[in-house]
Amino acid sequence: MSTTTAPRPEKITVQSIRQRKGAAKLSALTAYDVVFARLADAAEVEIVLVGDSLGMMVQGHANTLPVTLDDIVYHTRAVARGIARAHLVADMPFMSYQASVEDGIRAAGRLLQEGGAEAVKIEGGQEVAELVSRLTAYGIPVMGHVGMTPQSVHQYGGFKVQGREDHSHKRIVQGAKALQDAGAYAVVVESVPDALGAELTRGLSIPTIGIGAGAQCDGQILVMHDVLGLDPNWKPRFARQYAQLGAAAQQAFSAYVKDVRDGRFPSAEETFK
Ligand code: KIV
Repeated sequence: MSTTTAPRPEKITVQSIRQRKGAAKLSALTAYDVVFARLADAAEVEIVLVGDSLGMMVQGHANTLPVTLDDIVYHTRAVARGIARAHLVADMPFMSYQASVEDGIRAAGRLLQEGGAEAVKIEGGQEVAELVSRLTAYGIPVMGHVGMTPQSVHQYGGFKVQGREDHSHKRIVQGAKALQDAGAYAVVVESVPDALGAELTRGLSIPTIGIGAGAQCDGQILVMHDVLGLDPNWKPRFARQYAQLGAAAQQAFSAYVKDVRDGRFPSAEETFK
């Protein structure tokens, strides 16, 4: 008797992500739970990020600052159970690394050890280079994040496009280079003019993963809720809705409520005898 086993999906690694630079575009999505992680993995997205955007998408906060390391560990564990192929990255939340390099090393360690992440993402440029260098030396891969870094929302006075003025442009370019030199294997570039996204993509040997950074980046990342249209009242300019699941979910809930009220649910088939 012969048995056939389904071929194992090719696992996406730090190495295969680096090799895609200039050869194939990378697609990345955020996920915060096992169900959506499974769906993203089945869609063959290369990178799944447990972003601190969960503070806004899942917890209902106005920004990402209230998200704790425990929150990211919890959601990363759930997402890890849904992933077979994609590369799993966990965000370093606000104040898990800003006070000291040692804090950052311990926080990153928890995300890999307890959460099951394969890499961590850190916001910042030159100011986090030492941490990035120490983490990579210890074998913890780091994805950088430059441009409009949401943990600095109060410094910017809102979620505003960065890199339009000379000093901000220069700081972002130098920061991205510092991350690469410190050992980062990829860098997220958020909310910058497309010319700056293109300049970073040309100038760096590691892949750039854009969100609101134009079409020239080596890859794109979007927040899953935006792709699915889960919130009918929220559509950032840089995002594209591929479905309107918020409206569909609301219709489903209303139909259920009506069926219960009218005595049409449960039916005989939905009842134990
Ligand atoms: O937290 C997040 O989801 C992110 C992505 C938007 C890049 O940082």
